[in-house]
Amino acid sequence: MHRRSVIIVLILTASIFILCKCSGGARHDATIITDNNGEVFAGYTACAGCHKDVYEQHLRSAHFSSSAFSSADNIKGSFDAGANSFVYTRHAAIEMQKRDSSFYQVAFEDGRETKARRFDITIGSGNKGQTYLYWMENRLFQLPISYFTPASQWSNSPGFPNRIVFNRPITSRCLECHATFAKVTSPQGKEPEEFDRMQTVLTISCEKCHGPGAEHIKFQQAHPTDTVGQEIIKPGLFSRQQQLDLCASCHGGRLRKTQPSFSYQSGAKLTDHFILDTANGNAADIDVHGNQYGLLSASECFKQSDMTCGSCHSPHGNEKNNLKEFSRKCMTCHSESHDNFCTLAGKVKADLTGNCIDCHMPKQPSRAIAVFLQGADAAAAIRMRTHYIKVYPEETAKAVVSLGNLMKEKK
Ligand code: HEC
Ligand code: HEC
Ligand code: HEC
Ligand code: HEC
Ligand code: HEC
Ligand code: HEC
Ligand code: HEC
Repeated sequence: MHRRSVIIVLILTASIFILCKCSGGARHDATIITDNNGEVFAGYTACAGCHKDVYEQHLRSAHFSSSAFSSADNIKGSFDAGANSFVYTRHAAIEMQKRDSSFYQVAFEDGRETKARRFDITIGSGNKGQTYLYWMENRLFQLPISYFTPASQWSNSPGFPNRIVFNRPITSRCLECHATFAKVTSPQGKEPEEFDRMQTVLTISCEKCHGPGAEHIKFQQAHPTDTVGQEIIKPGLFSRQQQLDLCASCHGGRLRKTQPSFSYQSGAKLTDHFILDTANGNAADIDVHGNQYGLLSASECFKQSDMTCGSCHSPHGNEKNNLKEFSRKCMTCHSESHDNFCTLAGKVKADLTGNCIDCHMPKQPSRAIAVFLQGADAAAAIRMRTHYIKVYPEETAKAVVSLGNLMKEKK
């Protein structure tokens, strides 16, 4: 995959240039972006022509929206007067302002403007919330104000003190989970890190999971009658552990890196790059935010079958809130005919098949992601699906209230 020639480089330069123009996602011009092994990225729009269905599904996924250059299209919070400020105290506030064609967080101390920093990068689809970053030369910093979707409000950024803070640096690790690639230019271990701004690939794109695609495209274009994909990573052929490692590289909680960021590539062994966050197998110590792998692997379903994330999730689509479809996935393993169906089923008359999820994977508050809303004394937490699948008697009690109603309706 390392062979390159001048002509190809020229063609790629031209096509990347054209793609960047129409994708609107990238602000670099004719730059060729390569990963740390020198492999060339093509950009996700380059996949659309030959993989239309997967491409269209992917555009609807949370992965696709996990990072972007900030714009009116992706910033969820309001810039309208009355809804565009966050007040810390009588003396300190931040106002979200649109100036020319950009958006800014503007600090006011005792009514006087003291600082203004631009929204450069949006992190988060906004399903739960968003955080925003700004560039200062070749460094990235987090803006003080985030957006908290459950309350539809601007909030203090997670973990920030109750005062104006503009100097929290963003590490490559943050982008490694929320973007496809960023080139770190500062020496390993030096903080705050510096980046090559022209070599940043935002969104979790096809090439995060399938590897840089320029060589693949070159091959398929040169061999239009070939029906086998070449020069591309095929997760469909991975072992169970390789598949799990790919998802766990971002959904495995607080992994501690033992190699530079962006050196793990899909298909590699995760433990060659990170020390895993297993909380010694004690699911109660694992936060529901960000560590679906740790929680799932503590579950009997996982331990006693060859389950992967793909047993329930498509890597490309957006299946959010389709609890009936997820319940159907449970029933591929749990059924009357396998004699391992829900043991509650024999005890109640109600039909349990429509929603196994609320009883066995309830939403729980995250301890890691909690934010302070304006004027609040206690932090508001997001609620997430636990992936520790088991019997939760208290959740059943809640569900039975509604099931009880269901049973009455039946009569
Ligand atoms: C010129 C057409 C073309 C372009 C552009 C293209 N591909 Fe492909 N790709 C193919 C063909 C043909 C195959 C083999 C048939 C198949 O598996 O769909 C293939 C196969 C694949 C496979 C293997 C599927 C499997 O598991 O067997 C993956 C993954 C893939 N492409 C990803 C990508 C990505 C990512 C991009 C964009 C960076 C891309 N392709 C761009 C033509 C293309
Ligand atoms: C590069 C890091 C990364 C990898 C690799 C990754 N994810 Fe994600 N995933 C994320 C991030 C970040 C989000 C949250 C995006 C957002 O909402 O902003 C997410 C969100 C999700 C969601 C929630 C979707 C929703 O609508 O709420 C599911 C499900 C998911 N990922 C499954 C997977 C599976 C399965 C794999 C392995 C095939 C995988 N992810 C690989 C980073 C990753
Ligand atoms: C979060 C990781 C992830 C992302 C992002 C991703 N894929 Fe995949 N892709 C996978 C996995 C995992 C499989 C194997 C699924 C399986 O075994 O059923 C796969 C399978 C495929 C296949 C072969 C099977 C099929 O469904 O046709 C193609 C082609 C493909 N991906 C192309 C793409 C393209 C094009 C994009 C971007 C538009 C993309 N993928 C984005 C993880 C990903
Ligand atoms: C180990 C990988 C990882 C790292 C590092 C990481 N995140 Fe995340 N983040 C995730 C995953 C996975 C999700 C979505 C699923 C979840 O919360 O469990 C997420 C969710 C989010 C969301 C909410 C998105 C939404 O709307 O649902 C925001 C905002 C966010 N992260 C910001 C950040 C910022 C800013 C950093 C760096 C300072 C960061 N994250 C570091 C993996 C990571
Ligand atoms: C790939 C197969 C598979 C899938 C999919 C699956 N399970 Fe399981 N599950 C198992 C196996 C195997 C066990 C352990 C033996 C048994 O109880 O049948 C188990 C155990 C359980 C248990 C008992 C847990 C305990 O601690 O004793 C519950 C509850 C459960 N599963 C619910 C679910 C729900 C709900 C879903 C869907 C969200 C699901 N399972 C999906 C295979 C699976
Ligand atoms: C047994 C089925 C099952 C398996 C296996 C599974 N999930 Fe899920 N996952 C679900 C269900 C059900 C939801 C809730 C969907 C909803 O509420 O819309 C979910 C939600 C999520 C979310 C969004 C969480 C939230 O509350 O917003 C993420 C992220 C996620 N899964 C990642 C993963 C990863 C990574 C793996 C593999 C380590 C995995 N899942 C394995 C069933 C499963
Ligand atoms: C109203 C809540 C509720 C719903 C809905 C529900 N369950 Fe259960 N489930 C329970 C409770 C409570 C138990 C323990 C019952 C007992 O044996 O006393 C249980 C037991 C189980 C067990 C056996 C656990 C063990 O210890 O071996 C499995 C497997 C299971 N459920 C799977 C499912 C599946 C699959 C679905 C969806 C088709 C489902 N459940 C729907 C509440 C529920």
